[in-house]
Amino acid sequence: MNPTDPNPAAETIPEPTLDGGRFIRACLRRPVDHTPVWFLRQAGRYMQEYREVRKHHTLVEICKQPDLAAEVTITAAEKLGVDAAIIFADLLLPLEPMGLDFEFQAGEGPVVRHPVRTAGDVSALRTDRAGDLAYVARAIEKVAAHFRNRLGIIGFCGAPYTLASYMIEGGGSRNYIHTKRVMYREPTAWRNLLDKIVVVLTEYCRLQVEAGADVIQIFDSWVGSLGLADYREYAFEASKRLVRAVQQMGVPVIYFGVETAGLLGQMAATGADVIGLDWRQPLDEGWRAVGHSHAVQGNLDPITLFAPLEVLEQRVHEILRAAGGRPGHIFNLGHGIVPGTPIESVQAVVRMVKEFRSEAV
Ligand code: CP3
Repeated sequence: MNPTDPNPAAETIPEPTLDGGRFIRACLRRPVDHTPVWFLRQAGRYMQEYREVRKHHTLVEICKQPDLAAEVTITAAEKLGVDAAIIFADLLLPLEPMGLDFEFQAGEGPVVRHPVRTAGDVSALRTDRAGDLAYVARAIEKVAAHFRNRLGIIGFCGAPYTLASYMIEGGGSRNYIHTKRVMYREPTAWRNLLDKIVVVLTEYCRLQVEAGADVIQIFDSWVGSLGLADYREYAFEASKRLVRAVQQMGVPVIYFGVETAGLLGQMAATGADVIGLDWRQPLDEGWRAVGHSHAVQGNLDPITLFAPLEVLEQRVHEILRAAGGRPGHIFNLGHGIVPGTPIESVQAVVRMVKEFRSEAV
């Protein structure tokens, strides 16, 4: 098999027909009646209903209580009228069963109490407790029972590189010095770390798929910190292994990163069905770099949601024109919605995407 071939299991995925099928069909580059749309971080602090829930619960509490996680997921998807619901969870949840405590500090993002810095730290990480993350699967079951086939249901996890960088840096980072130091100076520890992450994430994704996730999105949010040579040498193989393992479970995979213009061809070589594009490059250029044998998702600048509606509409239409009606485009942002975003603008984008089809035909 050619290593760049998309999902070898795609032909075995049954033909999705109902409304929720629009999103899944687009992931598989099958024709759809109009471009499906959903948003990265569609449930979050920009939304009044979420802020109400957050008054009484921490982020991790919401994630761990399936009723709350399902409620937040469902409310956001219904309020926006999108084609897919992404389960409310967080990238960092798998750290806990691996033996790393973390917390979210107001205004600072996630902080890992004892970051991984040495080969010994890597050896101490556990890989046998992915089952502790079953609360995410329980939330997915509730969301699936609610929507049935009306919407696509997206499970997710971090990519090995991005998760490793959080574990090593202990939080967000500007230069990824600790991460790259381990990568370059302790290559065996680095590989062991990625191997362990892949074991846990594979099991975690399996729980999500068995619970009803139609698609898995793998967030490689910080992969843009790597040049192409380093991506190839230190990150690609682990991502590819995870992509393939999830596809073998019978669902399509979306692989997303930010500042990836120079990496897109290599990211596509993981075989992911869909590549998520950030907003820095016109969509048609990004799609060419990915290759048309893959679907793409994107790529509106999330800060455009603060622009007047005319400007917003111009940008939305540019993206849809760049996609050119080719099967396999999922409309989305190029990164997550930020706090303070007017919800009316997000809802307006959904309308613009849905109405564009009637203009085009
Ligand atoms: O609606 C959805 O998209 C689902 C929910 C979701 C959350 N985190 C909830 C959340 C998703 C998909 C994530 C993924 C995630 N988490 C990523 C990858 C996506 C990306 O943006 O690239 C990353 C890097 C994380 C790690 C993370 N979680 C950070 C850096 C932060 C702090 C950001 C901030 O603005 O404070 C979080 C916290 C977080 N995760 C929030 C939400 C709604 C906001 C904090 C809160 O509610 O207190």
